[in-house]
Amino acid sequence: GAPVTVNIDKIEPGQQITVEWRGKPVWIIRRTPEMLENIEKLSPRLKDPESTATSQQPEYISGSTRSLKPEFIVLVGICTHLGCVPTYRPEVAPADLGDEWLGGLFCPCHGSKFDLSGRVFSGQPAPLNLEVPPYRYDSDTTMTVG
Ligand code: FES
Repeated sequence: GAPVTVNIDKIEPGQQITVEWRGKPVWIIRRTPEMLENIEKLSPRLKDPESTATSQQPEYISGSTRSLKPEFIVLVGICTHLGCVPTYRPEVAPADLGDEWLGGLFCPCHGSKFDLSGRVFSGQPAPLNLEVPPYRYDSDTTMTVG
């Protein structure tokens, strides 16, 4: 599939957009400073906090923010368990996800929980973090996925 160029200028802080790449949904989320702070707090509760599974991101992506610039996370929107599409749940401590939820991605099929870096929580059916696709910045306002 061809690379997809996306204007990221209009994405508001806290907003998620979806683009299609190779027939898959790819999410771009603009993270707020609070969201980035929460990512740091969550590391002890995750299966692979430093993104060591080499299948799940390009080699130039590492660490807890899993991004070229911390403000924007790019993820393939397909659960690593059995392939459902997780939902974006950015709110902290919603009634159905509990007090410990600090915002992330929730798979409705079997309940896997991921943080706002797409990192899977311990004890979930999903074995791996969500995939970060290859991408690059073309300018401050444009990125290309693929
Ligand atoms: Fe997402 Fe099973 S497909 S938890």
